[in-house]
Amino acid sequence: MMIAIDGPAGTGKGTIAKLISDRLGFMYIDTGAMYRSITLKILREGISLDKLDSIKDLLERTVITFKTIENKQHVFLDEEDVTDFIRTPEINDTVSLVSAIPEIRVKMVELQRKLGESGNVIMEGRDITTVVFPHAELKIYLDASIEIRAMRRYKELIEKGNVVTYEDTLESIRKRDYNDMHKEMGALKIAEDAIVIDTSNLSIEEVYEAVVAKIPKNE
Ligand code: DC
Repeated sequence: MMIAIDGPAGTGKGTIAKLISDRLGFMYIDTGAMYRSITLKILREGISLDKLDSIKDLLERTVITFKTIENKQHVFLDEEDVTDFIRTPEINDTVSLVSAIPEIRVKMVELQRKLGESGNVIMEGRDITTVVFPHAELKIYLDASIEIRAMRRYKELIEKGNVVTYEDTLESIRKRDYNDMHKEMGALKIAEDAIVIDTSNLSIEEVYEAVVAKIPKNE
C-alpha cells in the first residue's frame, strides 16, 4: 500500500506522515529531506547552480539513506547524519532552486521509486501523487492559507533557536510556493484524483483522522 501526500510548505505533511508511520506501521519517506540534503552538499562545496557538470558529478558521488533512531527518522548524506542541518533558513531559501534542476529530480525520483517498493509506505513531497507514484492507492493534497503556513514555519524555526521574523518567513514561503509551482519538472499541482484537505482550521488529530478515514480497506 502506498499513501502519497503532496502540498505546499507548512501544511503539516511531515507531521501527518510521521503519525501514520508511528501508529499504522508504514515506512515514512520524507522526500523534501532528500532535496534538502543535496542542497546542503551543494552549499558546503560552494557549487554554483548553473554549473551542470559539477552538479552531475556531485550526484554521482552522493548517497542518501534514511534510518529510524529512537523513533525519529534521520537522514544520512554519505553516511553523515545531517538531520539537524537541513532545516535552516539558508537551506529553506536555496532548496526550491536546487530541486528545480531536472538532473537532480531524475535521480531523486528514481531513488524514491526504489524506496517505495517495500511494503506499506507513506511518502510526502511535491510530486509524489503526480510523478513518483501516480497510481498510489491513496493520494492526498494538503493545503492551508499562506499566513497559517508561515506562522507554523516561523514557530518551528524559533523553537530551533533560529533568529527570524514572521514577515521574513512569510516572504520566504511565498517565494518557495512560487518556485515549487513553476518548476519545469515536478511542479506542485493537485493530481486529478487526489483528495484535497485544507488544514488551516484543523488540529493535527483532525487531519490524521481525515486521512486515515480515506485509506482503502482490504476486503
Ligand atoms: O517538504 P520540504 O519543505 O522539506 O521540501 C523542501 C523543498 O524540496 C521544497 O521547497 C520543494 C522541494 N521538493 C520537491 O521539489 N519535490 C519533492 N517531492 C519534495 C520536496
